[in-house]
Amino acid sequence: MGISLSCGQAKWARSSLGSRALNSGRLVPVPRGIFITLEGLDGSGKTTQIRRLTAWLARRNIEPVVLRQPGGSATGDRIREILLDSRSTGLTPMTEMALMFADRAQAIAEIIQPALDAGKIVLCDRFTDSTEAYQGGGRELGSEIVLDLHRLICGNVQPDLTLLLLPSLEASLIRARRRNDRDQSATGKDEGRFEAEQDAFYYRVWQKYREIAAREPERVIRIEGDLSIDEVHEQIVESVAERLMTATRGV
Ligand SMILES: Nc1ncnc2c1ncn2[C@@H]1O[C@H](COP(=O)(O)OP(=O)(O)OP(=O)(O)O)[C@@H](O)[C@H]1O
Ligand SMILES: [Mg+2]
Repeated sequence: MGISLSCGQAKWARSSLGSRALNSGRLVPVPRGIFITLEGLDGSGKTTQIRRLTAWLARRNIEPVVLRQPGGSATGDRIREILLDSRSTGLTPMTEMALMFADRAQAIAEIIQPALDAGKIVLCDRFTDSTEAYQGGGRELGSEIVLDLHRLICGNVQPDLTLLLLPSLEASLIRARRRNDRDQSATGKDEGRFEAEQDAFYYRVWQKYREIAAREPERVIRIEGDLSIDEVHEQIVESVAERLMTATRGV
């Protein structure tokens, strides 16, 4: 695809932290790492693409910090079990949203903020857009309450770049349900609570994702259609490479 990056991890870290100096008493914002999130419906390919992107970065001597939500921290993994296990019956939408933010607060404090402060690239499998899409859209709590909670709990931690995977609704759900059956027989873990939802729920999630992308076109890159894993990867690395080059130029 013609883009090659020469910045190794050491050079990357230097360039992102190097201009910390205060010039002539003027406050210069402290540069930080890059926060990249992957979003999309269950089965849209987020985890698959994070693995591919991590390998692509590793070939360029960049070692990102990778995490998923819910989960990532030790406490977050326990919250994940409550949220995703089909045996968690009767969780109210508000409970669900509060647990998502409890997990996120912990992940920011323990993992995301320290990594960004150290000038690293953070790859996160779902973030607040998921809460807006699933609890705001799917559970019909609306966007406002989710965005208010984000401001209160997550402060100014916002992704620099969000890669939104949008294969067709049908393709996503078929893949997610198939993958869950496979994982459950391999590990005994049941993470199918959301996949058991009706198609109308997923349609609302899908609509809300599109609404977020339309609202924030600079941050959210849409990767649409039933593309192969390689084709999606190509589009992702193109966006990430562009982002990295902008950051290393200090633009
Ligand atoms: N573009 C693609 N074409 C065909 N199959 C794909 C594609 N991307 C991913 N898959 C397959 O679909 C299944 C689900 O992918 P993956 O686990 O990456 O999705 P996900 O977005 O992480 O889902 P979840 O939100 O449920 O964790 C996997 O078996 C994966 O190999
Ligand atoms: Mg996944």
